[in-house]
Amino acid sequence: MVCLGNICRSPTAEGVLRARLQQAGLDERARVDSAATGNSHLGHPPDERAIACAARHGIDISAQRARRLALEDFDEFDVILCADRTILHDARIRKPRTAHAQVELLLDWGGLGKKDVPDPYTGSSRDFEHAFKLIDAAASGIVERVRQGRF
Ligand code: 4NP
Repeated sequence: MVCLGNICRSPTAEGVLRARLQQAGLDERARVDSAATGNSHLGHPPDERAIACAARHGIDISAQRARRLALEDFDEFDVILCADRTILHDARIRKPRTAHAQVELLLDWGGLGKKDVPDPYTGSSRDFEHAFKLIDAAASGIVERVRQGRF
């Protein structure tokens, strides 16, 4: 799961997908992680509004720490899911020619169409809630893909 800062959208996506896989009994089938294309918050915990939003939905993301998307990630992971089209573009440029990862848009891969998860960083708690709902809907689609081995 990749976004710009790895403090709002992608840590939420990491926490939500891990929780939904666990609830489906599929957590042994996929390893979930998240990273940033930018470097503004490396080493930081998620934004407190993202932590609070996830907590309202019963998911604890407070132990995560922001890290940069690394070249090795493109070999380490089968799928790199990007929060919006700018991130998708940046991640595809960075993908080494020989690396095998698919680099896709998070909501699209989750079955919601070619839509961005709007960046809630400069917004309100309502924007965090909106991002959460989109991410959670995509997580449902991703759980089904994992169940069917479609990745
Ligand atoms: P994220 O949100 O990409 O969802 O983690 C942002 C976090 C930080 C910044 C922008 C977006 N920033 O400009 O510092």
